[in-house]
Amino acid sequence: MTATPLSDWQSWQHSWDRQQEWYMPDREERFRVMVDTVEAVVGRAPRVLDLACGTGSITDRLLRRLPGAEVTCVDIDPLLLRIARGHFDGDARVTFVEADLTAPAWTGLLPAASYDAVVTATALHWLDTEPLERLYGTLAGLLREGGVFLNADHMADESAPRINAALRALYTSRQEQERDAGALDWAAWWGEAAADPVLAEDASRRFALLGDPRERRTDPRRRDRPTTTRWHLDTLLDRGFGEARQVWCSASDALVAALR
Ligand SMILES: C[S@@+](CC[C@H](N)C(=O)[O-])C[C@H]1O[C@@H](n2cnc3c(N)ncnc32)[C@H](O)[C@@H]1O
Repeated sequence: MTATPLSDWQSWQHSWDRQQEWYMPDREERFRVMVDTVEAVVGRAPRVLDLACGTGSITDRLLRRLPGAEVTCVDIDPLLLRIARGHFDGDARVTFVEADLTAPAWTGLLPAASYDAVVTATALHWLDTEPLERLYGTLAGLLREGGVFLNADHMADESAPRINAALRALYTSRQEQERDAGALDWAAWWGEAAADPVLAEDASRRFALLGDPRERRTDPRRRDRPTTTRWHLDTLLDRGFGEARQVWCSASDALVAALR
C-alpha cells in the first residue's frame, strides 16, 4: 500500500502568514487587538465564528490566548481550508465549514445557532456593497445579545489624504525592498501552492471557483465595494448592532468592533 503524502501544514500556514504580512506588516498587531476585544467583551471561553478564515490565522492566535474557546472556521476556498484542516488536525475545538458567505442559506451549514463572537480579517472587501450589508444583518442575527463582531480590513479614513499618501509611499517602498529580498506576493504564493502535489487538486477547484491568482491581478468581483471606516460603522448600526467603533487603525486599514 502506498502511503498518502503529507504536506507540511505548519510550513504552509507559516508561508501564508509571511505572504499576508508582506501586504500588512502590522497584521499581528491587529490580531492582538482583535483577541483582546474578544476576551474583554465575551470572556475567556467564547464560541467564535472565524469568517473567511483562510488558513486559520485568527483562530490560531485566538486559541493560543484563549485555550477554552471553540471556533467554527468558514471559507469558500478549498485549498486554504485544506491547510487550515491540516494545521488544526486533531483539535476538537475547531470545526470547518466550506461555504460561500454570499449564498442565501450558508448559516444553515454552521454547527451552532448562536455565537459569542464573530471575527474576520482582510476578507469582506471581496464582497460588493449589497451582499455585505446583508451579511452584516445576518451576523447581527447569529450573535447572542452582548456578543461582539470584529472586522479588520482595508478601510480608509479619507479626512487626511496627504498623510495617507505619505504613509502609502513609505510602505510601498518598503514592500519593493522586501520583494527584492525574496518576499512572496499573492500570485507567487498561489504558484507555489499549486505546485505542491498534495494541494494540486484543491488548487484546481479553487481556480475554477474563484479564478487563478497567477493570471489575474484584479478580482473582477470588486465592482462596488465600500471603502471607508464610516461606511462600516454606519452599516453595522443600521443592521442591528447597538454600538460600533474603530478599535485600531493604520494608514489604509481599520479594525471595527460592533456590539450586539
Ligand atoms: C486574504 S484572505 C484572508 C484570510 C484570513 N482571514 C487571514 O487573515 O489570513 C481572504 C479570504 O476570504 C475568503 N472569501 C472571499 N470571499 C468569500 C466568500 N464569498 N465566502 C467565503 N469566503 C470568502 C477567501 O477564500 C480567503 O480565504
